Amino acid sequence: MRKNIVAGNWKMNKNFAEAEALMMQLLEYKKNNATHCEVYIAPPSIYLTTAKQIFANQEIGIFGQDMSEHNSGAYTGEISVGMYQSIGVDGSIIAHSERRLYHGETDSHANRKVKALLDAGLTPIYCNGETLEQRKNNQHFEVIKNQTQVALFTLSAEEIKKVVIAYEPVWAIGTGETATPEQAQEMHAFIRNLIAEQYGQETANEVSILYGGSVKPENAKEIFSKPDVDGGLIGGAALKIEDFSKIIEDFNA
Ligand code: 13P
Repeated sequence: MRKNIVAGNWKMNKNFAEAEALMMQLLEYKKNNATHCEVYIAPPSIYLTTAKQIFANQEIGIFGQDMSEHNSGAYTGEISVGMYQSIGVDGSIIAHSERRLYHGETDSHANRKVKALLDAGLTPIYCNGETLEQRKNNQHFEVIKNQTQVALFTLSAEEIKKVVIAYEPVWAIGTGETATPEQAQEMHAFIRNLIAEQYGQETANEVSILYGGSVKPENAKEIFSKPDVDGGLIGGAALKIEDFSKIIEDFNA
C-alpha cells in the first residue's frame, strides 16, 4: 500500500549552524516519538552530507531539492544523481514550481530527471501545480494532466509506483493561502485517476500523492484526512521544529 509522507522542503534557508541545530532537534524528536508517517527533509544540498551523518541510523529520508539530468561533465553548478547516490541521499524533489519559474524547468526536463533517479534506485518527488491565472480560467485540470503525462507517462507501471507526486498549486505556495481540503482532494483524485487510466487502478493506488502549499499545524490534519491526500510537502512550516513536528503528529492523529 502507498506510503504516508510528511516532507520538509527547506528551500534556500538557514546557515550551517541553523541547519545543524534544526536537524538535531528533528533527531531528538524522532528518537522520542513514534510517527505514523514517513518523514523526509530536503535541506540545501550543501548540508546533505551533514544530514546523512546526523540521521545515520534514524528513519528520516534525506532528499535533494533538484538535480541535473546529466550523469557527469561540464555542467558548472550542477549536482548529479550519482553524487546523491554516493553520499546515501534517498532521492530528490523534481520540477518544483520555483525551479519552473526561475530556472525554466519544464516537464521534459522533469521526465529525464525522474528517470535518472529511478534508474539509480532513488526516489523522485515530482511536483506539479497550476498558477492562479490557470485556475481562474478553469484550466487547472488540463494543466495538471499535461504536466503529469509529459513528466511521468513514459515510465513503466513498476517505475511510476516508486514516484512520489506533490500537487502544489502555485497560488498556495508561500502565500498563506491554502487549497481547501476539498480542492486538494478533488485534484489528488483527478491525478490518481489519470494514473489509473494509463496504468490501471492497482498501480494508481500505490502512488503517494502529497499536497503542498501553505500547510501549517492549523490546517494539516484536515487536509491529510482526505482519502487521496497521502501527506504533505511543507515549506515554511518545515523550518521550525514546533510546527514541523505538529504537522507530523497531525498525521493519523
Ligand atoms: P509553503 O509551505 O511555504 O507554502 O511552501 C510549499 C512548498 O513549496 C513546498 O515545496
